[in-house]
Amino acid sequence: MHLYGTQTVNEKGHLTIGGVDVTELVSEYGTPVMVYDTELFKERAQGFKDTFERKGIEAQVAYASKAFSSLAIYQLAKQQGLSLDVVSGGELYTAVAAEFPRERIHFHGNNKSKEEILYAFEERIGCIVIDNFLEIDMIKEIASERKQKMNVLIRVTPGVEAHTHDYITTGQEDSKFGFDLKNGQTDEAFCALHDHEYINFLGMHCHIGSQIFETDAFRFAAEVLMEKMVEWRKSYQFICPVLNLGGGFGIRYTEEDHPLEPSAYVEEMADVVKLMAEECQYPIPEIWIEPGRSLVGDAGTTLYSAGSTKEVPGVRTYVAVDGGMSDNIRPALYDAQYSSAIANRMNEPHDHQWTIAGKCCESGDKLIEKAFLPKVETGDLLAVFCTGAYTYSMASNYNRLPRPAVVFVENGQHQLVVRRETYEDIIKLDLPLQQKEREIFK
Ligand code: LLP
Repeated sequence: MHLYGTQTVNEKGHLTIGGVDVTELVSEYGTPVMVYDTELFKERAQGFKDTFERKGIEAQVAYASKAFSSLAIYQLAKQQGLSLDVVSGGELYTAVAAEFPRERIHFHGNNKSKEEILYAFEERIGCIVIDNFLEIDMIKEIASERKQKMNVLIRVTPGVEAHTHDYITTGQEDSKFGFDLKNGQTDEAFCALHDHEYINFLGMHCHIGSQIFETDAFRFAAEVLMEKMVEWRKSYQFICPVLNLGGGFGIRYTEEDHPLEPSAYVEEMADVVKLMAEECQYPIPEIWIEPGRSLVGDAGTTLYSAGSTKEVPGVRTYVAVDGGMSDNIRPALYDAQYSSAIANRMNEPHDHQWTIAGKCCESGDKLIEKAFLPKVETGDLLAVFCTGAYTYSMASNYNRLPRPAVVFVENGQHQLVVRRETYEDIIKLDLPLQQKEREIFK
């Protein structure tokens, strides 16, 4: 069985994370509960930063916070000296509430509203990553009106097809994101921005997909963007000080996944950029990256309680847990695979095949189709590993299930960082019909 980060099995045969017996966490916080191993998060963050430092390259490592957005993770990211990628007014608001240094916040999104852009100006954030022509107009207008300079990057689609799940590939040419590099849109965007009085044009950004294992796609993206930068120097005598190569580094969900060390991807990118800069005698740009999954993915574990079981003779045996697609939509949405264990009986052979079902009223609500576990008893604690990215942030109240609690653990200590939703929370936005309306809608 593969354990992640600080996970161990103690003398009672219980899973521990960050030096804490998970049964202790469950008696305090209940289930389902998401547990983050903050030491692993820090190790990953440091790994990225060290790699750039070793290569002698100025860099910003921005946490792509759509993977898991909360006050506490933003505070932790700040402590680690990371920058922050936000994609909405809501994520920006969370960053502001966490007192994240504004100059290290980068604002993404393919349809930012005028209000969101204005909010970014008011907060004087570090950079807006422009996605489309409408945004160029809005940003120029707001910057001129306010007489306030803004750093910008433009997002481009370099036409790289990363080999990953179709639904989560964002770097192809037929993409809703960014300016096409080949059909002239990127040049048009550059011309509209680079000599504007209140725009500080930093360069280009690309993000070629997510959960990518091979490095070729990243190398290719770095090359085509560097080529464009060299072209702009020739045509416009303009040097881009920044090159943002996005995120997307793959992690190990199951034994089928064989990712490189997260920092290995960065090493390759840095080498390509350095080499091309040398060949073209171009000043080495500052490299920015935006890992999300590879910072928080394997640091997260979800603990559920096992409930009912059902045997379909000759077909399969189900065990249902007290969460499901409401706290982890990824298996239903992307056919995402996970590994699991019975956290209170880790030393027993995990050799029975089970299907782990959620509790939502949908046949497709299965967390793991083929899980190998001991004979599961009602009340057992089921750990699903590697759930730190895109689970809580994509969670819903489907079937009006309250969203789980989130806990940070490290060094034998634990702290609740997102409290479990209550039934009161579930109806807090609902407004009952008033007497008068009851007449109208009856
Ligand atoms: N930068 C940009 C502009 C992005 O769009 C993304 C992810 C990232 C960085 C971070 O990518 P990462 O390092 O986490 O792969 N919900 C899907 C993943 C969608 C990714 C969207 N963009 C999932 O659950 O797999």
